[in-house]
Amino acid sequence: MSEEIKVLIEEEEILARVKEIADQINKEYEGREICLLGILKGGAFFTCELSKRITVPVRIGFMSVSSYGDGLTSSGAVTINSDADLDVKGKHVIVVEDIIDTGRTLTFLLNMLAKRNPASLKLCALLNKPERRAVEVAADYVGFEVPDKFLVGFGLDYAQKYRNLPYIGELLFEEDRS
Ligand code: IMP
Ligand code: MG
Repeated sequence: MSEEIKVLIEEEEILARVKEIADQINKEYEGREICLLGILKGGAFFTCELSKRITVPVRIGFMSVSSYGDGLTSSGAVTINSDADLDVKGKHVIVVEDIIDTGRTLTFLLNMLAKRNPASLKLCALLNKPERRAVEVAADYVGFEVPDKFLVGFGLDYAQKYRNLPYIGELLFEEDRS
């Protein structure tokens, strides 16, 4: 199947928004230390860009979860491939994810992390697809609201491809174009 990518959000626009979110975090957490917990693999790219613009003391950790397989729709079942490499107990934790789609992955994750007694727990997502929500999740920081399209780039993949694209694009399949 041949694929084509239509650019939706340019790199400059993403980085400008990342800076705004970082500034907001810097203000809100002034005088405190934070833990950024990036969700692999998609959230890794955003976590790195965000962390470079954070000026309060920051620890960076990652955990790996899967909810998608290689297809286009969420299975609903979340698997922890590798748990957080940071102790979140008593820490101000910000979970950093690429996208909130159905909300299932983050609901599962946030419930799990809350049981570990962090001092505070917030959610930061680069993208939000509200039309697709199956479970309500409140994000504290959102980069962009996006339409219900299949997106790739800046960490988002299709069958593990396209994560490295510096922009966010819509993946068009042959049938979308004919
Ligand atoms: P949720 O549990 O349905 O909210 O799924 C969230 C996960 O699905 C994200 O972390 C992504 O890995 C994946 N995902 C959701 N929408 C897209 C998309 O448009 N492109 C690529 N991956 C997506
Ligand atoms: Mg993901």
